[in-house]
Amino acid sequence: MKDGKFLTLGIETSCDETAISVVADGRQVWSNVISSQIEIFKNYGGVVPEIASRHHLENINKVLEEALKVADVTLDDIDLIGVTEGPGLIGALLMGVATAKAIAFAKDIPLVGVHHLFGHISANFLEDENLEPPFLALITSGGHTEIVQVKSYTDCEILGGTRDDAVGEAYDKVARVLGLGYPGGPKIDKIAKSGNPEAVNFTRVLLEKDSYDFSFSGLKTQVLNYINTEKQAGREVCREDVAASFQQAVMEVVVKKTMNAVNLTGALKLVMAGGVAANSKLRSMLESETEKAGIKLYCPKPILCTDNGAMIGSAAYYKYKALGEDELNMDASSNLPLERN
Ligand code: KG4
Ligand code: ZN
Repeated sequence: MKDGKFLTLGIETSCDETAISVVADGRQVWSNVISSQIEIFKNYGGVVPEIASRHHLENINKVLEEALKVADVTLDDIDLIGVTEGPGLIGALLMGVATAKAIAFAKDIPLVGVHHLFGHISANFLEDENLEPPFLALITSGGHTEIVQVKSYTDCEILGGTRDDAVGEAYDKVARVLGLGYPGGPKIDKIAKSGNPEAVNFTRVLLEKDSYDFSFSGLKTQVLNYINTEKQAGREVCREDVAASFQQAVMEVVVKKTMNAVNLTGALKLVMAGGVAANSKLRSMLESETEKAGIKLYCPKPILCTDNGAMIGSAAYYKYKALGEDELNMDASSNLPLERN
């Protein structure tokens, strides 16, 4: 405790960000330190799991020191440790879990493992102090695309998800095809602003009627085929137009299905979560649709959309309040199911 606040240390290492935060009362971010490995993986065009784990190991103590320093606290002030338990790259997750357990044991602080996606959802509690469940959540990240009915701080139901690539994965793959580099999402978002979204008519994959599932794996091939056909015909490919048209095809489907789910569930609040929630097109399309539907839209600032420790701190705080602490033998799980936070 410090200044009468319950302090949670949130640790996130599920992919290529080593991130640690101090969160007060589950809602206020006192520090949010993120050491990204993006510069390293630019050369590989994506994350290499073994290299990611090694970098977590090298960075985690520095990130911890910095997170405590920025928050102006010591480990003696920390009341709870929250760590991403899964899903994610197993070697990367283990670095966070081992660190969390070591601190919990040495300092006798309760420990809670949280689901990475509950973390992404909880980023919204940091953005808006008054937001409370129930609500509908759209989670779009590099590893996930899910429409989720959030019933309480620890309980949710998945209405639909991707059957193959996640939205962020599709962005990253198409960006590679366009020669934009890794991670591709923000780059496509940027250049699409000066492109024509109607230049190329990429397929809107809606799957079965009433389905809340997605499929994005065919889009990369479509983009690749389009580029090859244009080149063979001696025409110049406008990357801005391709990026804008791809983005339009993806986001039309995401927004349509999300709004269908809003209608089905009668939700009054829609919450955006995950790295792709930072996408400007998705934000503006959902802003206008939710306004038309008369419901409230929540979206964290971009730094809280992508992987961070603060969202884990918030999710851990509410899980601890509802369900108590975990045993020290809890372990990382690369494919932890979402219903289990
Ligand atoms: O949530 P996140 O940091 O990591 C996972 O849990 O996957 O999401 C990273 C993903 C990457 O695929 C990245 O390209 C995508 O989010 N992303 C974006 C944008 N910013 C990040 N995609 C589209 N538009 C953006 N502005
Ligand atoms: Zn994530």
